[in-house]
Amino acid sequence: MRKIAPSQGPFLPYGRQLIEEDDIAAVTEVLRGDWLTTGPAVAAFEQALCEATGARHTVACANGTAALHLAALALDLDPGDRVIVPSVTFLATANAVRLVGGEVVFADCDADSGLMEVPQLTEALERAAATPGGPVKAVFPVHLTGQCADLPALAALAGEHGLTLVDDAAHAIGSRYRAADGSAKPIGDGRLSAMTTFSFHPVKTIAMGEGGAVTTNDDGLARRLGLLRSHGMVREAAEMQNGDLAFDADGSVNPWYYEMPEIGLNYRVTDIQCALGLSQMKKLARFTAQRRRLADRYDRQLADLAPLVRPIARSAASEAAWHIYPLLIDFAGAGTSRAQVMARLKAAGIGSQVHYIPVHLQPYYRQRYGNLDLPGARAYYERTLSLPLFAGMEESDVDRAVAALAQALGPAAGQG
Ligand SMILES: Cc1ncc(COP(=O)(O)O)c(C=O)c1O
Repeated sequence: MRKIAPSQGPFLPYGRQLIEEDDIAAVTEVLRGDWLTTGPAVAAFEQALCEATGARHTVACANGTAALHLAALALDLDPGDRVIVPSVTFLATANAVRLVGGEVVFADCDADSGLMEVPQLTEALERAAATPGGPVKAVFPVHLTGQCADLPALAALAGEHGLTLVDDAAHAIGSRYRAADGSAKPIGDGRLSAMTTFSFHPVKTIAMGEGGAVTTNDDGLARRLGLLRSHGMVREAAEMQNGDLAFDADGSVNPWYYEMPEIGLNYRVTDIQCALGLSQMKKLARFTAQRRRLADRYDRQLADLAPLVRPIARSAASEAAWHIYPLLIDFAGAGTSRAQVMARLKAAGIGSQVHYIPVHLQPYYRQRYGNLDLPGARAYYERTLSLPLFAGMEESDVDRAVAALAQALGPAAGQG
C-alpha cells in the first residue's frame, strides 16, 4: 500500500471553527455599535439563512438544542404523545421531546450510513403501534454527518401516518437533498418538513460560538417560535387580552406595556453571535467545497485500508456538506480496540471522536424505556470513528491523519 510518513504537525482536532480577519471585524463592529442583542444583526443573519435555505422564515436562537426545544414546544404535544427519533444522534434531538412532556420512540438506523431511512421509520411505527402509549405525533429525522436520508420518502411515510416532520439539520447547513423530481434542494427549505433546526457550534460548518435556528414556511409556526424564544411576550394591540391594563385613554397600547399569553423562554441569540454568523454565512459555499474536497481525499487515501476501514455508506438522496468524517472500522479484525486506536491517533497529533453513542443506551432512557435492541445502531456504533474535518485543513492534513490511522491499526491494515 501507499505509505505516507505520519509527520508530526500541529494537533488536528476532529473539528474546529475557521475564523478569519473579516469575521473578527464584523464582530468588532457590533461591539462598537448600539445593539448587542435584539438588534439588526439578528435580523440580517435570519435573512441570510432564509436566502441560503430558501425557507420563508428563520428564527435564530441560542443554540441547536434551543432550536429543537422551541420546535418541540411549537408542536403543542400533549403529555405522553410520542415522537420518533433516530437513536444515532446527539442527545439533544431526543431530549427536546422529553422536555415538552412527550415520549421518545427510538428508531434504528442503517448500519452503514447511520441514517434513519424508510425501513427504520416503518419498524419504529410498527413497534409503537404494538406498544401501549400515546399517539405518535411527529418524527425528527437527523441529517447525520451532513448527509440526509431520503427526505421525500420519509416525508411521504410521515404524511401517511399524520406525523409532523421536524428535521434536525445541526450537521447539515449547506447540504442538499434529492427532491422527488430529481433536483437537489437545500436542507431547511421547508417544503417537506414543518420545521428544520440548525446548530452553529464551533465544530459545525458555520460557527457562532453558540447559535441555532429554526427555518419554516409556516407563518403561524414562525410567529410562535419567535414568541417562545422571548418569554412568550407580545406587544401588539391586536394581541392584548387585558383591556383594563393594556391601553392608554386614546386607545393605543401603553408604551411600557407587554403581555404574556403563554409561557416562553429566553432563547435569544446576541447580535455579537449573529454578526459572526452572518460573516461566516458569506463563506458557506467555500467552506462546503473545502470540506467536500477533504472528504474526497479521505475516500481516496483510505481505499488502501479496506476492508478493515471503510467510509460510511453514501446516501444517493443527498449532496452532503460534510460536517464530520466518520469511518467504519473493524477494530477486532485489526486486533485492537477503538480506545487504543484513539490513544495512538492522539499521540500522533490526530484528534478523533465517536458520533454517537446511541441515545437509547443512555441511563436516563434505559430507565424510562428499558433495554432496547436496535441492531443497526449497535453495528454502526461499534465501528464508527470520526477523523479530523474542518475547512481550515489542508489535503496534506488528511494524508497525515490517514497515515496515523494506518499505523494505529497496525499490520492488519497493511502497515508491516
Ligand atoms: C444532531 C445534533 N442535534 C442537535 C445538536 C445540538 O446543537 P447545540 O450544540 O448547538 O446545542 C447537536 C450538537 O452537536 C447535534 O449534533
